[in-house]
Amino acid sequence: MNARHFLTLTDLSPDELRALIQRAGELKRLKGPYEPLKNRLLGMIFEKASTRTRVSFEAGIVQLGGAALFLSPRDSQLGRGEPIEDTARVLSRMVDAIVLRTHCHRTVQRFAEFSRVPVINGLTDRFHPCQLLADLQTWFEHRGDIRGHKVAWIGDGNNMCQSYIKAARLLDFHLHIACPQGYEPEAELLAWAGDRVTLDHDPEAAATGADLVVTDVWASMGQEQERQQRLAAFRRFQVTPELMALAHDGALFMHCLPAHRGEEVSAEVLEGPWSVVWEEAENRLHAQKALLEFLLSG
Ligand code: CP
Ligand code: NVA
Repeated sequence: MNARHFLTLTDLSPDELRALIQRAGELKRLKGPYEPLKNRLLGMIFEKASTRTRVSFEAGIVQLGGAALFLSPRDSQLGRGEPIEDTARVLSRMVDAIVLRTHCHRTVQRFAEFSRVPVINGLTDRFHPCQLLADLQTWFEHRGDIRGHKVAWIGDGNNMCQSYIKAARLLDFHLHIACPQGYEPEAELLAWAGDRVTLDHDPEAAATGADLVVTDVWASMGQEQERQQRLAAFRRFQVTPELMALAHDGALFMHCLPAHRGEEVSAEVLEGPWSVVWEEAENRLHAQKALLEFLLSG
């Protein structure tokens, strides 16, 4: 099937990504109704919990003139074992695009292989590309182009961290990752990113001179049973005002949310002068409207 999908950030070229960030800003500033996707239907399959991704896609498609259809495994045949390939073939004959939040990245790839319409990754174990659109939009709004800047990732080498690796190579910034031993991102991705990414286990080294400091929860959805072990392993990896003091003057702090105050970030940082997390969350709406417009109306 030759629909255009958005499964990871590298499904966009650097030029397309820059244009989409720019368009997100335009849509944010737009006053009055703009409904290029009238009568278009967005299917949304969520196998994991969500507040921001779900609401921003539902609100976004409605604002663009369309409608959304939300499905969880509990109320569809997916939860009773209908194969993902069959679900993709059926749904994509009825809706115009599909957002899928699921566990295994391979599932979203299989879904896309069998879908006639664009498939958007709403988060998998490996990537969360929609969040990066909002993070990058937020950076560009505050600081202009990110090329050549230093971004510090403090914490788990998880789906968000791996999405930052993709962004670093696409937009040519330097990502310094500090994670506990044993919680590194995939070696293949690191090799792909080359000298765009530095990896060590030293949060102070990562934060020093950073223009943007980013973190995420220590235990992602699906890792609840590892929580105690992770709390111990990540203790040195909290983003605190002391850590932010090592960053450049005017450095920003981002977190995809939901945040755990007192774990990966202190309340002082989350609510402090560095933090742009509420705008970052709002930009999920604008960035994904730009994405829907790009995928559905070219
Ligand atoms: N950041 C993010 O994706 O949040 P939700 O899990 O609430 O969608
Ligand atoms: N890494 C987190 C991101 C949540 C938006 C998770 O996968 O649960």
